[in-house]
This record gives sequence, C-alpha cells and structure tokens, in this order.
Amino acid sequence: MDNKKSSTTEWEQRYQQGQTGWDRGEISPNLTYWLENRGIQPCRILIPGCGNGYEVLYLAKKGFDVIAIDIAPTAVANLNKKLVENQLQAEVIQADFFHWNPEQEVDAIYEQTSLCALSPNLWAAYEQRLHQWLKPNGKLLAQFMQTGREGGPPFHCDISAMLDLFTTPRWKWGEERNTQTLHSGEKRERVYLLEKK
Ligand SMILES: C[S@@+](CC[C@H](N)C(=O)[O-])C[C@H]1O[C@@H](n2cnc3c(N)ncnc32)[C@H](O)[C@@H]1O
Repeated sequence: MDNKKSSTTEWEQRYQQGQTGWDRGEISPNLTYWLENRGIQPCRILIPGCGNGYEVLYLAKKGFDVIAIDIAPTAVANLNKKLVENQLQAEVIQADFFHWNPEQEVDAIYEQTSLCALSPNLWAAYEQRLHQWLKPNGKLLAQFMQTGREGGPPFHCDISAMLDLFTTPRWKWGEERNTQTLHSGEKRERVYLLEKK
C-alpha cells in the first residue's frame, strides 16, 4: 500500500467526519505565554500539522511570517477560507511534511499535537525534519502530550523519551513552563522552549 496516500486519506476522513477531538477551537494559552514571557518577536515561523490553524491566524495577525503545513486537504481549505475572511496572509501548504522542505530555514517552529499524532517509530524522522527546518539557534515551541497510557494516537510523550529524542548535542532545552496545559479531555501537555544548537 502507498503509505503517503493512506496517511492523507486517514487524516482527511477524520476532518470530513468531524472526528477532530484534538481541536481546541481556539489558540493554546501556551502560545500567548510564549509571546508574552519568552520574548518571541515576529519572525518566520512554521506550524507543521497545523489542522484548523487557530494559531496561524493569531500569529499572522501579530505580524509573523507564517508557513503552515498539513496533509489533510479539508484542514488546509478551512484555514485558507478563514485567512480570506479575516483578510490575513500566511503560506498554507497541503503536503506530507516528511517529503517537504521550506525554501529557506525558519526562525521558529510551533509544535502542537503533531509529534504525538505520529507513531513513535516515526519520531526520530520527525525530529530530523524539525532540526533541518530550523536556522541555527532557531526556537522550537514544544508541547509534549501526556496521556499516561500505552498506545495512541495521541501517543504519550514521556519526558525521558523526549530527552532521548531531542538530544542535548543537537538541542538546548529551556525551563519547563510551570503550568501543564489541558488538551482535549484529561490529557495534559508539558511545555518547553527548545533551541537548535
Ligand atoms: C492531532 S492533529 C493536530 C492539529 C493541530 N496542530 C491542533 O493542535 O489542532 C494532527 C495534524 O497533523 C496532520 N498530519 C498528520 N500527519 C501529517 C504529515 N505526515 N504531514 C503533514 N501533516 C500531517 C493531520 O492532518 C492533523 O491535522
């Protein structure tokens, strides 16, 4: 079977059938926290697996140069429609992020529920993509999903596994944000600001 097609179809069906339990319907409080407390200024920022893209609209409005990518055509169409309605601009791409690269490296990446949506056997490849997409000293706004159970999606992103994945020769880890943010039901996110070395 063509894995690329099967993944596109699988995510597209979720959007078409309204099975989007991860969708907050608004931006994450982590984003406003980072902007207000961690000095993230308007820059070129990438959102992989952007979904309906509330953060894309918010950042575009704040003057960021946003690139958003998602494999599901419906998510991309929803976001493009909202951008037009709100007279905002962002580059929205429908593609598989394992087979895509930006024209130039980005200053920052906002990672929200993309990693945990991937099977753990793809995590090392995803970390390679994140590292490759960023400029040296580029920032990764990372939210690690805590489900406390086996299996997924979403898959549990245990912090010791994350330290093994985002290794210190390649990444500088910032302090954890004190508040663990609730995401869809009882699931929580542990949030860190990482920097590409
Ligand atoms: C759990 S959802 C999260 C959506 C959004 N980040 C949010 O928090 O609402 C995961 C998203 O990643 C997208 N996705 C999954 N695999 C992908 C891939 N290989 N390339 C691009 N997007 C992908 C899905 O279509 C889906 O929109």
